[in-house]
Amino acid sequence: MQPGRRKTLFTETGVMKHRKNNNLSIFVVVFSIFLFGVFMYNEDVKSIAEFPFSRPKGSDIQEERSKQGNPVQEGIKNEKESAVSLNSRTSVEEEEEDTKRKIPDEKTKEPDDLKSMVVKDDEQRLTVEEDKGDEEKIEEKLEEQKTELPVIEEDDEDVELPPEDCDLFTGQWVFDNETHPLYKEDECEFLTAQVTCMRNGRKDSLYQNWRWQPRDCNLPKYKPRLLLEKLRNKRLMFVGDSLNRNQWESMVCLVQSVAPPGRKSLNKSGSLSVFRIEDYNATVEFYWAPFLVQSNSDDPNMHSILNRIIMPESIKKHGKNWKGVDYLVFNTYIWWMNTFTMKVLRGSFDKGDTEYDEIERPVAYNRVLTTWSKWVDKNVNPNRTTVFFSSTSPLHIKSLDWNNPDGIKCALETTPILNQSMYLNVGTDRRLYVVASNITQNMKVPVHFIDITSLSEYRKDAHTAVYTIRQGKMLTPEQQADPATYADCIHWCLPGLPDTWNEFIYARIISHS
Ligand SMILES: *[C@@H]1O[C@H](CO)[C@@H](O)[C@H](O)[C@H]1NC(C)=O
Ligand SMILES: *[C@@H]1O[C@H](CO)[C@@H](O)[C@H](O)[C@H]1NC(C)=O
Ligand SMILES: *[C@@H]1O[C@H](CO)[C@@H](O)[C@H](O)[C@H]1NC(C)=O
Ligand SMILES: *[C@@H]1O[C@H](CO)[C@@H](O)[C@H](O)[C@H]1NC(C)=O
Ligand SMILES: *[C@@H]1O[C@H](CO)[C@@H](O)[C@H](O)[C@H]1NC(C)=O
Ligand SMILES: *[C@@H]1O[C@H](CO)[C@@H](O)[C@H](O)[C@H]1NC(C)=O
Repeated sequence: MQPGRRKTLFTETGVMKHRKNNNLSIFVVVFSIFLFGVFMYNEDVKSIAEFPFSRPKGSDIQEERSKQGNPVQEGIKNEKESAVSLNSRTSVEEEEEDTKRKIPDEKTKEPDDLKSMVVKDDEQRLTVEEDKGDEEKIEEKLEEQKTELPVIEEDDEDVELPPEDCDLFTGQWVFDNETHPLYKEDECEFLTAQVTCMRNGRKDSLYQNWRWQPRDCNLPKYKPRLLLEKLRNKRLMFVGDSLNRNQWESMVCLVQSVAPPGRKSLNKSGSLSVFRIEDYNATVEFYWAPFLVQSNSDDPNMHSILNRIIMPESIKKHGKNWKGVDYLVFNTYIWWMNTFTMKVLRGSFDKGDTEYDEIERPVAYNRVLTTWSKWVDKNVNPNRTTVFFSSTSPLHIKSLDWNNPDGIKCALETTPILNQSMYLNVGTDRRLYVVASNITQNMKVPVHFIDITSLSEYRKDAHTAVYTIRQGKMLTPEQQADPATYADCIHWCLPGLPDTWNEFIYARIISHS
């Protein structure tokens, strides 16, 4: 695999050199080699790349939160990071960032940004996939020694449902260590090492104890048996990128405690992972489709693609795997953030076409979600299937975004942002959020828009940071000691924030049917 990657890198470098013919090519080569050698994933670079490119054009953004200023300006203002070059690796990194800061709008810098982003994100992806290798090969019938968990003895107390029209997403985080977490990290053997932060060495655990309290109503008390009764003889499927997989892992843990040992299984096969609970004939599934539409990044294991290209009008290939599913939860966001434009194929991968156009990110996103919405309207029977769409999951890359000059990305954060009158902009591309919000509201098939964005923006404390894996391996103590380079401020610890996202889905599932 590694020689393959090296080859791709150099090929890509060559292409870029040829295409742009700028004097930064030597730097590109050096930086690529450096990336190849070190395998790191640095969100700083990504985030900095995002700011210049995600500048909203007044006309094509309908900012929901009008009190916000220009995110770009703020982002750039906030970028004054103090970084000391401790070793050669860091120096290279800093150099790269500094260059970008100086000329954020200069076209010639773009290829570097794009490529480095892509490489890094792919490393991340590979890490995740490799880590799950053991589970992937065969279905595991789990031998759980634990006796049945107390949670199984549920009382008959009625669960109070929120009114249909209650806005569940406006509210606040409340410390509540009586009801949260909803399960324990070491009681859910299905969690991958990517998300088990405590086991991976995280010392503080309060991030598990926050409950989302909607302003105007209450989320229903979580009862796994109640959820599983609703899922009996049904399929629940998450479709999308690694954040949706994060949420899928959470959902698996939320339901698995109800099933006795040996009566539950996880089967990974290609793009589809199926968690099955025998006694309920219920499945909780994840389907890998980071752009929802067809792309050259669709292989669940081998998508180390530097040059990400999508076919925005092509969705059937994936869509046939979603037909007849009872609950569908879609998302797509993070894979869009590596480049400021999206590459759109002219023609078809199947015909061997390779030429592409580069299209503004929100324009391409709109095309993709339009394709997706047409697919849903045509193929989903709303009498049978409930459709959800999760809004953008935010990143926490620059601690100055929340006024912490002593922070290192998200790595030192142990509490949520609780002051909601504080101006907050963590760099979310709200343009994509608006597209998704608008399109899901205007469909024939009703879609529940799970508006996780703002409430998750408060959760700077909830990321995996350095308590995670890379290349299938736990970060070494040296890497953990270098969060500026290694902290993952994209994905989330479990138990943790994605459990709350699933509480919204739970609320809808038990309210209907
Ligand atoms: C896992 O799923 C694949 C694809 O559906 C299937 O072919 C295979 O038999 C399953 N494995 C087991 C052990 O059930
Ligand atoms: C919950 O938090 C309170 C206040 O911090 C603390 O006194 C109590 O011991 C905690 N309870 C549990 C079960 O952790
Ligand atoms: C089990 O679930 C599947 C998928 O939802 C469904 O098609 C099938 O009819 C169920 N089997 C029984 C025996 O109800
Ligand atoms: C859904 O149910 C309604 C009312 O029972 C019915 O009129 C409608 O035709 C059904 N739609 C589909 C697509 O089956
Ligand atoms: C919350 O933030 C606002 C605006 O930054 C500030 O004026 C206020 O003092 C803060 N409140 C608290 C309790 O820190
Ligand atoms: C929202 O969607 C409708 C139809 O789908 C479209 O006509 C309108 O321009 C969109 N508005 C925004 C703000 O994107």
